Amino acid sequence: MNFIGIDLGTSAAKLLLMSEGGEILNIVSREYPIFFPKPGWSEQRPEDWYEQSILGLDELLQGQDRSQVAGISFGGQMHGLVILDENDKVIRPAILWNDGRTGAECEYLNQVIGKDKLSEYTANIAFAGFTAPKLLWLAKNEPENFKRIRKIMLPKDYLAYRLTGVHSTDYSDASGMLLLDVKNKKWSQEMCEICGISADMLPTLYESYEKIGCLKPAIADCLGLGHDVAVAAGAGDNAAAAVGTGTVGDGQCNLSLGTSGTLFISSENFLVDSKNALHAFAHADGHFHLMGCMLSAASCNKWWMEDILSTKDFNGEQAGIEKLGENTVFFLPYLMGERSPHNDPSARGAFVGMSMDTTRADMTQAVLEGVAFALRDSFEVAKSQGIPVTSTKICGGGAKSPLWKKMIANIFNIPVQVPSVEEGPSMGGAMLAAVACGVYDSVEDAAVKIVKVVDEVQPEAELAAKYEVKYRQFAKLYPALKESYAEIYGD
Ligand code: XUL
Repeated sequence: MNFIGIDLGTSAAKLLLMSEGGEILNIVSREYPIFFPKPGWSEQRPEDWYEQSILGLDELLQGQDRSQVAGISFGGQMHGLVILDENDKVIRPAILWNDGRTGAECEYLNQVIGKDKLSEYTANIAFAGFTAPKLLWLAKNEPENFKRIRKIMLPKDYLAYRLTGVHSTDYSDASGMLLLDVKNKKWSQEMCEICGISADMLPTLYESYEKIGCLKPAIADCLGLGHDVAVAAGAGDNAAAAVGTGTVGDGQCNLSLGTSGTLFISSENFLVDSKNALHAFAHADGHFHLMGCMLSAASCNKWWMEDILSTKDFNGEQAGIEKLGENTVFFLPYLMGERSPHNDPSARGAFVGMSMDTTRADMTQAVLEGVAFALRDSFEVAKSQGIPVTSTKICGGGAKSPLWKKMIANIFNIPVQVPSVEEGPSMGGAMLAAVACGVYDSVEDAAVKIVKVVDEVQPEAELAAKYEVKYRQFAKLYPALKESYAEIYGD
């Protein structure tokens, strides 16, 4: 039997075909556009996700034995608001996880409803990009669209709906809506009332590894697949990536360097940090996790390389970087505002410290370091809560860079373990499908049997000490700019 994982990402759908033993048989990627209608806004067309996923499935299966495909599941970009009308038609483009338009609504939720209440109802507070503040924004700014809502979905759940006809979501992804009572794994009646919606607008909740249905016969026929191909609920992309890198069970850590950057810590038990600086979400293994999310990670490097330096030679640019731990240029990676831990949609990117002898390589280095320093901000929150993290896995496009991995090992001062498969969410999705089809007893069983660590990057004492000084300097820059960000870029 073979299984398909679909990573419904922000830049593309990445599809992976895995044998039941965990061998990767094929990987394909299909891009779709992202729209930034206003500064800080970010939208996509759900129809594009569906079309490209179907084309991707066909491409993935070229030359493969289609009769062997037994299950499909997902890792999906989280938090995006997809709204359907009474005919299950999409009402407006999806508002994505990195959209910063809800500053006023987050302020209302956190200050007027109050962080304590939000945390009691959902285990989390409001961050721009979460789904509930978008509903409030919509009610105020697009009341006609708001009135037409019959179903509220997350991106991968829309794709699952189109493939099966079932309105479903899973606990890990639902956690990021600020509508789920995460601890008790049920929709929060209080949050539905605050947002002016009814609970029947929300999809049915499943564990990530549960089967929600089968492919619609017409789609199965079109792809040459059997009518019994199971579709499992899947997970938010970070939880799926954690599964794909074996970050399951208690106290495991994964860093994802994709469009966003995340620090993900798995936990057997429900836990929440005292300031709600990290997200307290359900995990795809049936347990829980804490997560810090920075909005622009590998996307900072992509922006710097492609849009500013006009090159695609990422390796060539990084080859010129030699003075690790000694760079006097800093980069603040807040190109889309920032989520964890600053929760500030008005923050923006900044280079600090250039002089007449600053080189192109210094600035490229600063971009890579700035992303690693910003991820360390979330790591510091975890440490301050007494959560011990002694090593981490890594995945995502940025994890392909040996230099970036070395920086991270030294900036965090912990070993960075490289799993055999860097395609975290799509691999995790395929593994969840295999669990749903009964090939493995549990997600942990699949992770133990499938995921292997192939390399470990160790920190070096002298370099880690240099980076410690640099991180302390970096950590003072955002507080120094915070007021100016609010004055210049605030609502
Ligand atoms: C997590 C988050 C991002 C998106 C990216 O909270 O917003 O990692 O899931 O796809």
